[in-house]
Amino acid sequence: MSQMAEKSKSKLLSILFNRRSIRRFVYRPVPEEYVQKIVEAGQRAPSACNLQTYSIIWAKDEKIKGKVLDACWTPSQMKNVPVVFVICADFRRLRRTLEYLKADHCLKQEGGYAIKLMSIIDASLVAENMTLAAECLGLGSVYIGGALTNREVMKILNLPEGVLPLTLLCVGYPDEQPPTRPRLPLSMILHVNGYRDPSDEEIKMFLEHMDDALAKEGYYQKYSNQKPGFRYSNNIQGKTATKPMQKADAEILSVLKETGFAFA
Ligand SMILES: Cc1cc2nc3c(=O)[nH]c(=O)nc-3n(C[C@H](O)[C@H](O)[C@H](O)COP(=O)(O)O)c2cc1C
Repeated sequence: MSQMAEKSKSKLLSILFNRRSIRRFVYRPVPEEYVQKIVEAGQRAPSACNLQTYSIIWAKDEKIKGKVLDACWTPSQMKNVPVVFVICADFRRLRRTLEYLKADHCLKQEGGYAIKLMSIIDASLVAENMTLAAECLGLGSVYIGGALTNREVMKILNLPEGVLPLTLLCVGYPDEQPPTRPRLPLSMILHVNGYRDPSDEEIKMFLEHMDDALAKEGYYQKYSNQKPGFRYSNNIQGKTATKPMQKADAEILSVLKETGFAFA
């Protein structure tokens, strides 16, 4: 391998290993050519059968950007973020193309689930490429999951049937330098030759590891306005509690039906 290839390989790995979400941005506009480069880098992501079933909406207009951020319950300290993308799964353009070709296709009636699920993978890969491209350009980013199946966002951006908002990707110049956040030990997520359930002891060790690392950083106080003593186990239980989730599930299912992503 040439010296240059070796160098750019280690630069990419360093970007991957040092990336972390940024939630405070300085108000400094991002040049438009950077915005385009980020989206072009997104497009270079793999795409199932190269169907490219996604759309990226740049909320460029300040008013629209503000409305989108509000609709996704974005914390106020992030409202000055200069660039907001809405990442969408989109089988509508593919269906229009097939109709133009007068083709017999699975997207005109209920079904086509493989393509619809793949469109979520496609869009997610684009989003991750965009995140890394932003890092390469000296920018930071964070996703805002409140955009997922968000009717208000759909209304603001005129998203038609066949297009599903998945997440916001907010990008700008960082105004904080948080450390990288802990992850599960590799042995818990890398299964060799077949699935292996973790033991209770491993789960206990993992929770302790997360609590220690997050407490050291004061993560929940700094980033989530939680009281001291809030732990990772509180976080995962809060995010998956049955009651609020039941309400959210009903809403999500109805949006999935309306947008043509689910039928039952
Ligand atoms: C789909 C998705 C939705 C997310 N939504 C939010 C969000 O609404 N607010 C937020 O502060 N971070 C959000 N995040 C960022 C995660 O909290 C973050 O990636 C995770 O805690 C790991 O931290 P790191 O990115 O710094 O490694 C989201 C990430 C993903 C992938």
